[in-house]
Amino acid sequence: MKKEIAFIFDLDGVIVDTAKYHYLAWRNLANALGFDFTEEQNELLKGVSRIQSLEILLSIGKVNLSEEKKQVLLLQKNKEYLEYVNKMTSDEILPGVNDLLNFLEINDIKYALGSASKNAPLILDKVGLLNRFTAIVDGNDVSKAKPDPEVFLIGAKKLGVNPENCVVVEDAIAGIEAANAAKMISIGIGDANVLYEADYVFKDMTAITPDFLKNLMN
Ligand code: BG6
Ligand code: MG
Repeated sequence: MKKEIAFIFDLDGVIVDTAKYHYLAWRNLANALGFDFTEEQNELLKGVSRIQSLEILLSIGKVNLSEEKKQVLLLQKNKEYLEYVNKMTSDEILPGVNDLLNFLEINDIKYALGSASKNAPLILDKVGLLNRFTAIVDGNDVSKAKPDPEVFLIGAKKLGVNPENCVVVEDAIAGIEAANAAKMISIGIGDANVLYEADYVFKDMTAITPDFLKNLMN
């Protein structure tokens, strides 16, 4: 008999490659504050909430700011980020995503979004995927950021599926930790040396094969 499973997808770095836009906006902010911010350092910001990202950036630059100033910078960074987002089209859906969503739909497997981003609905709308998800949980719905499991547990509840039957697809260490803490099956997308805590790791979304998915269902 087939198991009832459901999928919960992270957004940035899994469905779309928005990490590059986050990086450009954070780097410009760092430069304006007088320090450099490398792509390697940007790895620390993946999966992390907007405010925590700023705190990490400021600690890298050894910059101390008032809470008021931080709020101003958060708005400034998001404004620049949205300039990139507003130009996005369906061309920016990462390879393999549409095939995977089609497979899930054909096999009656429900799927939700579980993202730290407050911009998630806008991004999904821009790339034409907003109406395909059964449920969307984003940065506006959670009080605790990944690696806390809250975002995925809310997703499972919205889907009406037990956490242990949910499969999380994530590109960030914090996201894999959140999925594991929720007792879900974790799939990492990226480097296996970085995402070693995941139950399975694939180099990108095209590497998730129908055979692998059928095995998960049985
Ligand atoms: C996550 C990204 O998905 O969303 C992080 O990996 C980002 O890099 C976080 O900081 C919050 O995103 P936003 O769009 O609300 O600033
Ligand atoms: Mg991500």
